[in-house]
Amino acid sequence: FPVERIRNFSIIAHIDHGKSTLADRLLEITGAITKTQKNKQVLDKLQVERERGITVKAQTASLFYEYENQTYLLNLIDTPGHVDFSYEVSRSISACQGVLLIVDANQGIQAQTVANFYLAFEAQLTIIPVINKIDLKNADPERVENQIEKVFDIPKEECIRISAKLGTNVDQVLQEVVKRLPPPTFNREDPFKALVFDSNFDQYRGVIANVALFGGCLSKGDRIVSAHLGKSYEVNELGLLKPEELPMERLYAGQVGYVIAGMKEVKEAQIGDTLYHQKHPVEPLPGFKPAKAMVFAGMYPMDQSDYSTLRSAVEKLTLNDSSVTVQRDSSLALGAGWRLGFLGLLHMEVFNQRLEQEYNASVIVTAPTVPYKAILSSPRLIKEHGREEITIVNPAQFPDRSLVKEYLEPMVMGTIISPDDYIGKIMSVCLNRRGIQKNMVYIDDHRVMMKYLFPLNEIVVDFYDHLKSMSSGYASFDYEDAGYQAADVIRMDILLNGKPVEELTTIVHRDRAYSAGKAMCERLQDAIPRQMFEIAVQAAIGSKVIARETIKAFRKNVLAKCYGGDITRKMKLLKKQAEGKKKMRYIGTVQVPKDAFINVLKRK
Ligand code: GTP
Repeated sequence: FPVERIRNFSIIAHIDHGKSTLADRLLEITGAITKTQKNKQVLDKLQVERERGITVKAQTASLFYEYENQTYLLNLIDTPGHVDFSYEVSRSISACQGVLLIVDANQGIQAQTVANFYLAFEAQLTIIPVINKIDLKNADPERVENQIEKVFDIPKEECIRISAKLGTNVDQVLQEVVKRLPPPTFNREDPFKALVFDSNFDQYRGVIANVALFGGCLSKGDRIVSAHLGKSYEVNELGLLKPEELPMERLYAGQVGYVIAGMKEVKEAQIGDTLYHQKHPVEPLPGFKPAKAMVFAGMYPMDQSDYSTLRSAVEKLTLNDSSVTVQRDSSLALGAGWRLGFLGLLHMEVFNQRLEQEYNASVIVTAPTVPYKAILSSPRLIKEHGREEITIVNPAQFPDRSLVKEYLEPMVMGTIISPDDYIGKIMSVCLNRRGIQKNMVYIDDHRVMMKYLFPLNEIVVDFYDHLKSMSSGYASFDYEDAGYQAADVIRMDILLNGKPVEELTTIVHRDRAYSAGKAMCERLQDAIPRQMFEIAVQAAIGSKVIARETIKAFRKNVLAKCYGGDITRKMKLLKKQAEGKKKMRYIGTVQVPKDAFINVLKRK
């Protein structure tokens, strides 16, 4: 297929603005799927995606389109639709020459619209603004066009108004893709070079890598190398995605397709990596970085007897998602489990949900934490770690203040877009989360865009929900990595009658210690049943107690209320009590049921 008649493009949008619906229409128009094929939104394959209505894994399709008596090959590269996956978004769009930037005609520009715009803009792509849902009663395309002109500096005449749902003007979208986007400039005579922009694992065929060819051509039987790991493979199968796989003998520069080459794990075909011919090494494409876990959580089977079932489920899921990091972990209270690292909160939620849905596994997930860093001052520790700067994921390994020069915490730059009625409330929520306002602009008569620098730790737990609920659902939020900053963080221990409970140790900001300690003590007070003696529940920093609750001693024993009752009932109660004890853990002489740990540790 001649390169001049190829167009590679992505659709980018804020969640729910209609990306999948438009993709479906484009597939219908070009005959890749028929209208009668009632599989709504073919591009979103995974069950979680369908249920939550979000695109998690990128899916891709090659479309043939007739324009002015010529056939064009339009490669639609679907991108994951959420902030957590922005690195993946940036890799997928780097395989394109242009994007369709979808904006809902009623909601207007939202936080992810802005984030996605900048990804495309920085990659110097042609951006076609598309205003969707013009069929809605309260659609206001004019206002949205003005926003686009103001915020992105794109002339409003360039916007295309469509209804993806009804199909209005969708054909025009394809025409504009052909007209406005440049063809890829890659050369077939160059050595073969391809970008991996997605990869999936298939139980029978191994890794299926989605690739965009930046040069040369690739045939069945070729020996290729992946630049990141330097391993070599033989190509067993390759072809186009329509979106089903269509095997071919060869792929050429400018095309997009899939490659199967005996890779056993998705880690061997990492997103952003470069493939080349073993005989003709090339300079890898720029911008590759391995996915970086920013949110960690412990994961344990509800019942230890489910451990091996859960282990194989976790293994299977990570086969398909190389961005999850897995480390075995064990907790005295919760048993054997894992410490998993995710790109962000949504990523974590999607993973849990898949685990529960696809593998029917019942799990306990602990509250998420972020990776802190410490610049060590202690020569002994520096020697032990072989370096000055260490990353701390587990609070138990938090080095004492006396051994470090400074602690650092991960920061993010957040974008919030909201009607201006909520400015006051939003500012106070942000301040509460230690946010620092960097910027605020009006994007139209009564909507503002605010930029805040936040410690990641402050937004990992329910920030987004909070923002949504206090703005009646109108505020949108997105964030990007903003590096590390010095922070006054400390280690907080929880004590039961003076004995520390290892699994409840946390790292907190000094200003937050008191409220976090108090909350933890209160939760424990509720979760631990009364016993024969009084129990002091304390939060402490070093040797200083900062919060305390008391669990009063038990007055009656379990049998008290059975006096006069029959003996089998007494036996039952005693048996129940004995079973309960098996699941207890002792902290000193205090019995803590497993449930109490679960209640305190799990995410709310
Ligand atoms: P993510 O995959 O989560 O990023 O969402 P999306 O952008 O793919 O949105 P999707 O296509 O799933 O559409 C979201 C909702 O908007 C669905 O309920 C669609 O039916 C609806 N929708 C999409 N396009 C239109 C449209 O043109 N008009 C109307 N009225 N509704 C639309």
